[in-house]
Amino acid sequence: MSSQRPRVRAHLAQLPGYAPVVPLAERARQAGLQPEDCLKLDANENPYGIHPGVRDALAQALDAPDFGSIYPDPNQTELREALSRYTGLDPSMILAGAGADELLDLSFRAILPPGGTIITCTPSFGMYPFLADINELNLIDIPRDNHFALRSHELLEAVEQAGRDTIVVLTSPNNPSGDLVPRDLLKRLLDLGATVILDEAYIEFAGLHASAQDLLADYPRLIIMRTFSKWAGIAGLRLGYALAHPGLVTDLIKIKQPYNVNQAAEIAGIAAINCADEIGKQIDAIRQTRDDLFKALLTIDGLTPLPSESNFILIAVDPNIGTGRNLHDRLAQVGVFTRTYSDPLLTNHLRISIPRADQLTTLLDRLNSAL
Ligand SMILES: Cc1ncc(COP(=O)(O)O)c(C=O)c1O
Repeated sequence: MSSQRPRVRAHLAQLPGYAPVVPLAERARQAGLQPEDCLKLDANENPYGIHPGVRDALAQALDAPDFGSIYPDPNQTELREALSRYTGLDPSMILAGAGADELLDLSFRAILPPGGTIITCTPSFGMYPFLADINELNLIDIPRDNHFALRSHELLEAVEQAGRDTIVVLTSPNNPSGDLVPRDLLKRLLDLGATVILDEAYIEFAGLHASAQDLLADYPRLIIMRTFSKWAGIAGLRLGYALAHPGLVTDLIKIKQPYNVNQAAEIAGIAAINCADEIGKQIDAIRQTRDDLFKALLTIDGLTPLPSESNFILIAVDPNIGTGRNLHDRLAQVGVFTRTYSDPLLTNHLRISIPRADQLTTLLDRLNSAL
């Protein structure tokens, strides 16, 4: 008998792991404050929370005698039909998952063999390198320029040189810079025959008209990722979906965890789609507050906000004030939780999620006190 514990595979054991957001209760405790007195602006969640219509649907579901005791539908039939109404695409082109994160992981693993390549353009969502690492994929980074614009020429060149087992992952609007992927660049990449995952986690804040989903009809190598975590206020229930060629969806259904979308997420997702017009009012309010915050930030010495199509703003911090991390820490002491980065392009930056309209004055007061 061996007394040695099992070891994870060597390449996994050496990985640093993903740096997730610290729970609100813990951050509040560190600041010596009550959670309800803090502004949680670090994870781009919907500040208005779960919509009452979605909450009611969940409450009603709890009363059903078999709620939670039977497995959810592995084919996600009702949810995919609801998503079909929401997106205007056929259910055969839709697959739901436990967050976009699960579907990114599934797509990477399903399409690329170990040793395959992911091309990304940092700074972007930290999940991509994490998933590349755990799936033994190589990462080619074509960093954005100093203004966070995509380097189209270099990106196209990298795609031309890459082998067949390559996926380009782009984010539109990008997290954290807030800009959309130019449509002509996306088309040029697809015209080169690249497989492109376009992560539209924040597209509702730009407006669904800004989506590239219409390109799915002509480009079978395009995969679009979406989530309910941001616009629909149900990040904690874990629900995302992919839009892709029906053949790929069929293959992914075969290899996904059969019950990957839990019953509560399914019910909440359908209810959110049924309440989409109502939730749209929250989205409008978030966009208005984003514009108000942007204008207010422009008047604060030492802070330069970047225009954003999303529900957050990236702010450049003048080195005279300190680093992004310094300001992040000072804000945390007054109960404003934001996001900083280790990426060298972002040392002097801070990302802040858009609060509720009624929280804007408090945010600006605390920001001024932290400066
Ligand atoms: C660009 C991007 N994609 C995907 C996600 C994750 O989505 P989900 O909560 O559906 O896993 C996030 C969350 O921060 C994100 O910023």
